[in-house]
Amino acid sequence: MCGIVGFVGHHQAAPILLDGLSKLEYRGYDSAGLAVRDGEADPVLVKAKGRLQILSDKTDGGKTVVGSCGVGHTRWATHGEPSENNAHPHCSDDHNVVGVHNGIIENYQELKEKLVRNGYSFYSDTDTEVAIKMVDYYYKKYKMGPIDALAKTMVRVRGSYALAVMFKEYPGEIYAARKDSPMIIGVTNGESYLASDVPAVLKYTRDVYYIGNLEMARLTEGKAEFYDLNGDQIEKPLVEIKWDAEAAEKGGYEHFMMKEIHEQPKAVLDTINSMIRYKDEVGEDGTKISGKAFIDLASIGITDEIIRGIHQIHIVACGSAYHVGMAAQYVIEDLARIPVRVELGSEFRYRSLLLDPNDLVVVISQSGETADSLAALREAKDKGVRTLAIVNVVGSSIAREADHVFYTLAGPEIAVATTKGYLTQLVACYILGIQCGIVKGQIPDDKAAELIQELNTLPGKISKILDDKERIQWFAAKFASARDIFFIGRGLDYAICMEGSLKMKEISYVHSEAYAAGELKHGTISLIEEGTLVIGVLTQKALFEKTMSNLVETGSRGAYLANVTTYGNYSVEDSTDFTIYVPKTDEHFAATLAVIPLQLLGYYVACARGLDVDKPRNLAKSVTVE
Ligand code: F6R
Repeated sequence: MCGIVGFVGHHQAAPILLDGLSKLEYRGYDSAGLAVRDGEADPVLVKAKGRLQILSDKTDGGKTVVGSCGVGHTRWATHGEPSENNAHPHCSDDHNVVGVHNGIIENYQELKEKLVRNGYSFYSDTDTEVAIKMVDYYYKKYKMGPIDALAKTMVRVRGSYALAVMFKEYPGEIYAARKDSPMIIGVTNGESYLASDVPAVLKYTRDVYYIGNLEMARLTEGKAEFYDLNGDQIEKPLVEIKWDAEAAEKGGYEHFMMKEIHEQPKAVLDTINSMIRYKDEVGEDGTKISGKAFIDLASIGITDEIIRGIHQIHIVACGSAYHVGMAAQYVIEDLARIPVRVELGSEFRYRSLLLDPNDLVVVISQSGETADSLAALREAKDKGVRTLAIVNVVGSSIAREADHVFYTLAGPEIAVATTKGYLTQLVACYILGIQCGIVKGQIPDDKAAELIQELNTLPGKISKILDDKERIQWFAAKFASARDIFFIGRGLDYAICMEGSLKMKEISYVHSEAYAAGELKHGTISLIEEGTLVIGVLTQKALFEKTMSNLVETGSRGAYLANVTTYGNYSVEDSTDFTIYVPKTDEHFAATLAVIPLQLLGYYVACARGLDVDKPRNLAKSVTVE
């Protein structure tokens, strides 16, 4: 997974390409490069290993590279180590075709052998060089122009790609092709842009085209034309992006992650509001009830009739979104009494699936581009099962391919570690669970009203937790050099632990584990040593004492005990060393609140260790490879 950009217009391309890449660095940051053409001249290629800043310094912010048409790339290595040689753009030996690519060419070895037989040689270890030379090969063989060469390549290539290329004989033009990797194209007065994601072009235009799977585009100054695989021109609607560029900037915070943590109250509120409507009703006693809140999933095509027919729900997701699924399993099963299975995207498709036509497959994904989740969605569709996507990025592949889409309204999430994406996904699952419960006759009217009312209190309660963040910062500093951290809980609290543990390890690089509290004694407790930090999550009344006693067991083996619990459970202070309280809520919604201190803890430990919080090593924001 990488970020690509392209520009053609009246301005110098390099500074615009660098600016666009800076908005995409979350997608990969182990090397970067650009290729710029000045009129009919050969493209100038500049590449650098490491962060984008190195490329920027090398080109004096792009000033030393002249020309108004170019493509750029920020890389997250998949084929070939991060190096200047493997960095994009890649080009054919005579500079006839030069381009950038995001995705994976699965059959690149086979294609490479074919090209070698036809006299090509290779300078890098990348699959991209093969793709570019494949385009060059077809361009020269059939002499039918760039669209034909791209189409022929697309038929031969297996895998995923967002490809942007320039051809020597077509100055001032960029050609693009896409399958399964994200790409948008923006146009404005006399200028055209291409990028893996909207933030890269938002400063310049809000009018974008979403290029579809197996489609191609030709960009000239201020104009984009689209083609299908047959080479026939196709029409695409121009879509206006509603959120502003501010949303993709740090806005005074030191890191995107902290900014996004603070955006959670609004993101949650917006997501709730998108599915709650109000109506006037007459009660059984004839009194008028004005403005009664109700959930309206019909707006996303999930009607009561569909819900009535659901036998089982399969939630499929990866990483934090999978943790949402784990929490949602407890909530939906309890509220709606529908069996729920939660599956990792990467596992789902490799099992012999027992899917029933009356099942609902729910794919949860912030980016909407995660390859494993997308593959699972397709698998479910192939089996004729109804699919619902809970997705944040509008127009993403998962959103476009699912039968129904519930958009979380988190706005752009830039930090690699998800926070507001996770929280809004949870809220979407609560809404789904409540509505299923109502329709299946498991939640009476008054209980439904109570739950909806409680949902509406969540944003305020999240803000309250954020007001007290300095205490967590102090605690994080104390444990910044911890070697291991354990998060333990039962039931829903265990699902919260999984997310807390992932937040900690992915950005602070401190080893941490989430454990079902009752399982500790079956092996893991032997890892507890004097001073090991064990954090208990205790939001579920029925499980409180059991988890507490597991926590105390680790304390008697020397662990330092911290816990996250709700206001009122003050007895915890008798047996633990540090307590973080969160406001009371309906227990089904506890994850929304209890996870906030854990996000903050991971963040502050990473900061105290001097790490790059927004761009942790070896990771990228959207994982478009399997
Ligand atoms: C962790 C994190 C990842 C993502 C996972 C799925 O903080 O962000 O674990 O949750 O890669 O990504 P999406 O939701 O885009 O499918």
